[in-house]
Amino acid sequence: MLRKLLIGTALASGLAFAAHAEDVKEVQMLHWWTSGGEAAALNVLKGDLAKEGYAWKDVPVAGGGGDAAMTALKAMVAAGNYPTASQMLGYTVLDYAAAGVMGDLTETAKKEGWDKSVPAALQKFSVYEGKWVAAPVNVHSVNWLWINKAVMDKIGGTEPKTFDDFVALLDKAKAAGVIPLALGGQNWQEATMFDSVVLSTGGPEFYKKAFNDLDDASLKSDTMKKSFDNLAKLVTYVDPNFSGRDWNLATAMVIKGDALVQVMGDWAKGEFHAANKTPGTDFLCYRFPGTDGSVIYNSDMFGMFNVPDDRKAAQVALATATLSKSFQSAFNVVKGSVPARTDVPDTDFDACGKKGIADLKAANEGGTLFGSLAQGYGAPPAVANAYKDVVSKFVHGQIKTSDEAVTELVKAIDDAK
Ligand code: GAL
Repeated sequence: MLRKLLIGTALASGLAFAAHAEDVKEVQMLHWWTSGGEAAALNVLKGDLAKEGYAWKDVPVAGGGGDAAMTALKAMVAAGNYPTASQMLGYTVLDYAAAGVMGDLTETAKKEGWDKSVPAALQKFSVYEGKWVAAPVNVHSVNWLWINKAVMDKIGGTEPKTFDDFVALLDKAKAAGVIPLALGGQNWQEATMFDSVVLSTGGPEFYKKAFNDLDDASLKSDTMKKSFDNLAKLVTYVDPNFSGRDWNLATAMVIKGDALVQVMGDWAKGEFHAANKTPGTDFLCYRFPGTDGSVIYNSDMFGMFNVPDDRKAAQVALATATLSKSFQSAFNVVKGSVPARTDVPDTDFDACGKKGIADLKAANEGGTLFGSLAQGYGAPPAVANAYKDVVSKFVHGQIKTSDEAVTELVKAIDDAK
């Protein structure tokens, strides 16, 4: 679909910009980093590029998970109006590369040694047919709990190690009159939480089979049904106003102590960081109960478009800055993520960041590093969207039972494949 839409414009834009004058000293970037923590992280990049004399042309499209941003990107590219780069997730990069609209950063990658420093799990999505088409900015991981420490102390809670422990902890919060679980009722947030529920319920092998291999028997299984049961249980701990709430507002509920916990990717930590909160003192980061030892990841990539020649120097500057070791540390400290290179010291990271770096390394070496289906790293966008849709209908009661949810999930994924 994407290919058909874009193929004509790839040619058209090439012709339109065939004549080039001097290098344009500007980076145009499409992204969905509009929350406090995200904007603070992006400022690190803007600052680094400004030092090199590049102006920043911001194209922000709000909406966590990037669905709205990807709609905007499609329209821009279809009009032959390529940004220098766009924030993208996993399979989306490959889709655009297959459509023939991405640039080629291989020369820069060689010069900078990306082959050696960027883990294979990320190269799978940033290199297409031997060419570097994207610069990975970070590695996020979704199977985390973010807990308000004062509330935890008040209710006498301890780290939940199993799903049942988690339910018991949520019950304690409820008894104390605190909102147990801060959730934003948007499909991508619900599905991001369900990624963790499935890993916890079925274990690493099951998660991989169901959500990375799209194995039919696993998708249909009783374990998947049990996962929906567990999701339904969690939803009983959410406040009545959760529908449509943005993820960062859910994080703010935990930061303020209005809620005990949020299940969210570690971009949530960027919000704690922006609010000057310290792990261990103000908040706690634990792996989602029953998922210790595994990491469900996504990585923000800057997809590099095949821009006209006079804009290529700016693109190279952006790519080089993005993967520099100093930037990888400075940016990810603020963003809540961990570096997309394996050779960046963890010195400047807080306790949660250090744990994130160590967990990623261990999972990568131990074969328990899995792509997030909700976050574009489990399967192509059509499948991910079908998944988000079913999970959300279940959370909002349009799909009533776990049995029905399993049937709908299998059907939706089948249709999308
Ligand atoms: C994710 C992205 C993160 C964060 C989050 C919420 O998809 O990877 O960087 O921005 O959305 O906006």
